[in-house]
Amino acid sequence: MKIFIDSANLEEIKQASSLGLLDGVTTNPTLLSREGKDPIAQLKEICSIVEGPVSAEVVAQDSEGMVKEARQLAKLADNIVIKIPVTNEGLRATKILSQEGIKTNLTLCFSPLQALLSAKAGANFISPFVGRLDDISTEGMSLVSDIKLIYDNYNIKTEIIVASVRHPIHVLEAARLGAHIATCPFKVILQFLKHPLTDIGIERFLSDWKKLKDTLGR
Ligand code: E4P
Repeated sequence: MKIFIDSANLEEIKQASSLGLLDGVTTNPTLLSREGKDPIAQLKEICSIVEGPVSAEVVAQDSEGMVKEARQLAKLADNIVIKIPVTNEGLRATKILSQEGIKTNLTLCFSPLQALLSAKAGANFISPFVGRLDDISTEGMSLVSDIKLIYDNYNIKTEIIVASVRHPIHVLEAARLGAHIATCPFKVILQFLKHPLTDIGIERFLSDWKKLKDTLGR
């Protein structure tokens, strides 16, 4: 399974990338606005740090505006993927962009049928938002499971990006279900790398090693 970082923060992206495990980045208007910098310059910089796909979202609401914005964003770097909300207008734009060879990630997906239509429109990626569904007492991961089943039934190649990830268990479940990608806040990446028993184990090995050296007088 691929791991993306869900962030527009350069420091977080650099740190995650330096672990050697980072396969891509997803941003959105909220994440870019948090950085308070020119979003275009920020996206260019992100694309220079990470080789894998970097999602940049359109803000137009109509298909014509979305396509126009997407064409501009696609010029920023070869690894830009255009994030488009799953709406009627978004699907129209996706169809056009897919015919032009511009990659798309259909976002704000909350139902399996939205995911099916996105794939039919030619989306390269679909982003089901599991955390936001959990927030309203609906099981986010069952959406991922339904999408996986439907995509497998029809041999659909659109990659599933499990998004709105809030904790490591979301990532574990995503992997169990065979989702292609989980996009995680930096905090979650650090959480799932860490285990207290690993730290305790290292401490114990080092102290036993020191005891042996002391005994041998070296
Ligand atoms: C995904 O591509 C989105 O940027 C993101 O996962 C949204 O997460 P949130 O629900 O925590 O805002």
